[in-house]
Amino acid sequence: MRAAVLGVLLGAAIAPAAWGAAQDFDEVQRGRYLATIGDCTACHTAPGGKLMAGGRSIETPFGNIVSPNITPDRETGIGAWTDDQFYASMHDGTSADGDNLYPAMPYPHFTKVTRDDVMAIRAWLNTLEPVVNRVEANQLPFPFNIRAAMIGWNELFFTPGVWQDDPKKSAEWNRGGYLVEGLAHCGACHSAKNMLGADESGGHLQGYALQGWFAPAITSGDGVGLDKWTEDDIVEYLKTGTNRFATAAGPMAEAVSDSTQHISIADLRAMAAYLKDQRGPSGDKRKPMDAKDPVMRAGEAIYVDKCAACHTMNGEGIARLFPTLSASPTVEAENPLSVLHVILNGTRAVQTRLAPTAPAMPAFSWELTDAQVAAVATYVRNAWGNAAPAVTAGDVSSARKTLEARRE
Ligand code: HEC
Ligand code: HEC
Ligand code: HEC
Repeated sequence: MRAAVLGVLLGAAIAPAAWGAAQDFDEVQRGRYLATIGDCTACHTAPGGKLMAGGRSIETPFGNIVSPNITPDRETGIGAWTDDQFYASMHDGTSADGDNLYPAMPYPHFTKVTRDDVMAIRAWLNTLEPVVNRVEANQLPFPFNIRAAMIGWNELFFTPGVWQDDPKKSAEWNRGGYLVEGLAHCGACHSAKNMLGADESGGHLQGYALQGWFAPAITSGDGVGLDKWTEDDIVEYLKTGTNRFATAAGPMAEAVSDSTQHISIADLRAMAAYLKDQRGPSGDKRKPMDAKDPVMRAGEAIYVDKCAACHTMNGEGIARLFPTLSASPTVEAENPLSVLHVILNGTRAVQTRLAPTAPAMPAFSWELTDAQVAAVATYVRNAWGNAAPAVTAGDVSSARKTLEARRE
């Protein structure tokens, strides 16, 4: 009798607590996974700094913003914030005092995330080491240093609201849309922007130049973007940083290594299903330049001499080592900046757990003149079934200036 009562009492005392702890553990793990999809660390962890302690300089078209400390430190981090304040930062783009954040924090995307998922992210952030690090975020030049200006920006360009499922589409498509448009914020880099850094209407996922690179269109239709890629190609690219068409470089290499390689295959499949259903501009199908054009001829000669050893004569490359130069959205992008970046500066491919060796491409900026770079770039953009606007010597000289300015 006594033992039974004791058992009941103990059971009553232990069971809910143990159950609660198990639930918290699950929520923390879920939050960690979601924070990886959101790639909070890309902006909130400084190189060599403590996890999420801020202090990283984020480039915007108007100047640099330094990311805040989002560890649970109560004085200099967000430890003292209420759940509502945290939710508002993600959903409405406001800080604890109600001031507007700059859209360098991707709240125009994070607003789509459910409260449940935001709270899981907070539960995980709460388990991190609290770091004392006071950050002065605002280093923008006048007039962009006036936070109140963001009220107008939000009025013009921002509609808060959680992702709404489209009942006409599959559950997988909707999961993919929730992630691509929300936490994964692909459009922060891949959607065309206006002069105030807001998404251009009609430019959704259709390409944008940033940080000396061009993030190409990732829509499908009319031979541009991901038209030639299957869903499996997209999954493989996001999971390993490479596939039979391309390897990730620059900011995309960082996105793959910090974030997308850790996303589950099921979620990546959902994202691929959603992306393959996003339509690009339906204009005239592009026609490749005439192979007998003198610029194409000059470009071909340079290609054979300098590039074919790795990318092979027919541009196919060697799968997962030297990328094929056909069917790559980056190579055929309207804006040639990424192609020029790679040719001028060279690049090293991303290392991922599933593709741990990272092949490199040498820089050609010192070897080739502007006209030569333009010719070889024009050639690779119009050979082997590719079709894209010609590159001029002027494009190359302005790309050189962009890249040099970034090196200072
Ligand atoms: C692309 C860069 C970027 C990413 C990715 C990013 N943030 Fe931010 N975040 C910023 C910047 C920059 C600010 C400061 C904006 C300002 O000062 O107006 C900020 C502000 C914040 C704030 C407000 C802090 C304060 O003191 O006002 C919170 C909270 C926050 N971010 C959480 C997150 C979480 C959680 C994630 C991941 C789900 C995330 N951020 C991903 C750049 C980013
Ligand atoms: C921080 C900016 C950034 C984010 C975030 C980002 N990308 Fe990219 N992405 C780029 C840039 C820049 C390139 C061009 C460089 C390259 O080809 O590797 C690129 C290239 C690509 C390519 C084309 C590959 C090729 O070589 O032609 C695909 C596909 C892609 N991104 C998909 C995505 C998806 C899906 C997301 C969201 C999960 C995403 N990206 C998020 C910047 C970004
Ligand atoms: C030593 C081998 C090597 C040589 C020579 C070489 N490349 Fe590359 N190239 C690579 C590797 C490796 C990558 C992938 C690196 C990455 O993604 O960061 C690459 C990537 C590229 C890309 C980006 C493809 C994409 O989908 O993002 C282009 C464009 C390119 N090379 C063009 C050229 C041109 C033009 C030349 C000659 C002027 C050339 N390469 C010479 C090895 C080479």
